[in-house]
Amino acid sequence: MDFEPFQYMRYAKRLEYADGIFMAGSGMNKPKRDVLSFREADFSLDSLCSNYGDPRNIAWLAARYGTTGEHVVMTAGSSEANFLVYAAALNAGDKVIIETPGYPQFTSLASMLNAEVVHLPRRYENGYEPDIAEFKKLLDDGVRLVVLTNLHNPTMARMPRDLMKEIVDLCAVNGTLVLIDEVYVDHLKPGDDDQSAFELGDNVVVTNSLTKVYGLSGLRFGWAVGPKKLLSKMLDLIDIVDPELPTITQNLAHHALENLARLRPAARRLHEQNWPIVKEWADSRDDIEYFHPPGGITVWLRVKDITETGNLSTVARNDYGVLVVPGEYFQSPGWLRVGYKIEPTAVREGLSRLGKAIDDFKSHR
Ligand SMILES: Cc1ncc(COP(=O)(O)O)c(C=O)c1O
Repeated sequence: MDFEPFQYMRYAKRLEYADGIFMAGSGMNKPKRDVLSFREADFSLDSLCSNYGDPRNIAWLAARYGTTGEHVVMTAGSSEANFLVYAAALNAGDKVIIETPGYPQFTSLASMLNAEVVHLPRRYENGYEPDIAEFKKLLDDGVRLVVLTNLHNPTMARMPRDLMKEIVDLCAVNGTLVLIDEVYVDHLKPGDDDQSAFELGDNVVVTNSLTKVYGLSGLRFGWAVGPKKLLSKMLDLIDIVDPELPTITQNLAHHALENLARLRPAARRLHEQNWPIVKEWADSRDDIEYFHPPGGITVWLRVKDITETGNLSTVARNDYGVLVVPGEYFQSPGWLRVGYKIEPTAVREGLSRLGKAIDDFKSHR
């Protein structure tokens, strides 16, 4: 099968083990032991896991989304959930609208299924909100799926609820499914426009996991919540690839879900602690433009007059020991995604090194 490899993921996986100050990550570190400690019993292979997931977890998620278990599918992270939604919803030749800049998994999935990608721009000038008039022009009968992220990766922009509703309603008229990846939404303060989009329409499927905000990527615990018909097809696909879900993951995730409210503030605290440091640094340079994120642990910034941020990132890594993600991976040469989940002193040091790398890079062009 020919398909577009997910190059960002290869880059991100390798970088995690590279030397240098790590400012490339978009997920929290795992919770400290005094915040979440797993019990010996959780590591048992005997469990309630009834092949499609622990019924306690399905019930927990159904309650969180105000629905029933038939609307919930458990997956190995939101990545698998996104994969299953695509595979269940699209046939070759169908069109899928995805955001630009955007998370490149969505383009790779389209290419695997021979679906046609239609790009929906999200622009800096617009606070990265999609333009509804532009969206309307793109939405024709061939579009079977629209994919959005909230918060938006790479910028962390939030999607206003009324705009999301407008998009969902337009798609409903068109018979189009809307996938909203909400893996970053819990970076917002509880109650601050952080509700799931699931309830916005019968044509909405949301995906999420314990990875980004909760630091439990290693569990590979994710889910999709959406229309029964779609989920039933996703279960058909799960039967092909997952005879059973990992029991221990289900046990550990059960414990994490029970404690989720206690785990959530850590990411917010980190944002509130480190964002002012990043902002001060960015404001101190007249060659940096950035999007102010409402939450999260990454900032999306542009280095004025530089279009090869891929090369700049290589200089930053090799000569200055700081690791960042070039915008090229998000279809945006000239931009960088810089993470700040590390200790404040490391954030300061990392940014100082990045500044030197930028100066060095510019002086050699
Ligand atoms: C928008 C988005 N969705 C999904 C993922 C992957 O998350 P998971 O660990 O839940 O598979 C990422 C990771 O970077 C992401 O940015």
